Amino acid sequence: MPNIYYSPGDERASRVRDLFCRIAKRYDLINDIQSLGMHRVWKRRLIELAQITAGTRVLDVCSGTGDLALAMWDKGADVTGIDFCAPMLEVASERSSGAAAGRHPIGFAQADALNLPFADNTFDVVTVGYGLRNLASLDRGLAELLRVLRAGGRLCVLDFGKPEMALWRVCYEAYLACMVPIFGWAFAGDPAAYAYILESLKHYPAQRGIDEKLRLLGCRHTRIVNFLGGAMSLNIAESPEESSESRAETHRKPSFLTVSDGDSKG
Ligand SMILES: C[S@@+](CC[C@H](N)C(=O)[O-])C[C@H]1O[C@@H](n2cnc3c(N)ncnc32)[C@H](O)[C@@H]1O
Repeated sequence: MPNIYYSPGDERASRVRDLFCRIAKRYDLINDIQSLGMHRVWKRRLIELAQITAGTRVLDVCSGTGDLALAMWDKGADVTGIDFCAPMLEVASERSSGAAAGRHPIGFAQADALNLPFADNTFDVVTVGYGLRNLASLDRGLAELLRVLRAGGRLCVLDFGKPEMALWRVCYEAYLACMVPIFGWAFAGDPAAYAYILESLKHYPAQRGIDEKLRLLGCRHTRIVNFLGGAMSLNIAESPEESSESRAETHRKPSFLTVSDGDSKG
């Protein structure tokens, strides 16, 4: 049965925005329930691997209710969070208002990940938690993330993955197909919003596909970190050393791309 929030065509972005606008107030609660709180551990791991220190300029894309942005701000980073869904950002802003006293506040802004309102080479680190899978154009999204990242900066992506082990994959997909929509029904009154996770995952290349795309885009030191046998995963990469203008120039040329070795593959 088709999912009302998944549309492969022009309506993809507006349906995704509708979905998150509907569930914004319940999003954090359901996240904790469906992952048994483990999403906090995976997000902490992302932040460790992002190597955040005081003053690191970070862009958190698809920031939602601001989990990653707030945690990185706590580490002293100079954080901007963007999302195209205003109700999700309202929750993020409420959460950050207490935290901002006496320090440079987190800047949350409504913006589209496919058309980021920042100059090339602006950030040291770009993070995306559970956002890439939702973009109407994955290739355009990755190009935008790398455009705003300085040469040698880190891209850190956390999302649902695709386990290699067939039996585990069947069990995990059954959980996403049956249990997760029940949580969506019980806590947000909207089972389709949570059935969307599996539907969007079917159309997402997941950890290995993202790693391959990042290598083809010239990223270095690409790395996959799997959790729960690959049911969740992180893609980490360093942006190409050349500036984003010369990168754009390279990609306009029909040349062969250099494929670099990754650190570790899960
Ligand atoms: C699953 S939530 C993730 C929230 C948060 N990063 C986290 O890890 O909990 C996905 C978020 O991506 C946002 N989003 C999806 N497509 C987007 C786009 N094209 N531009 C900006 N935000 C987008 C949604 O509005 C939603 O808040």
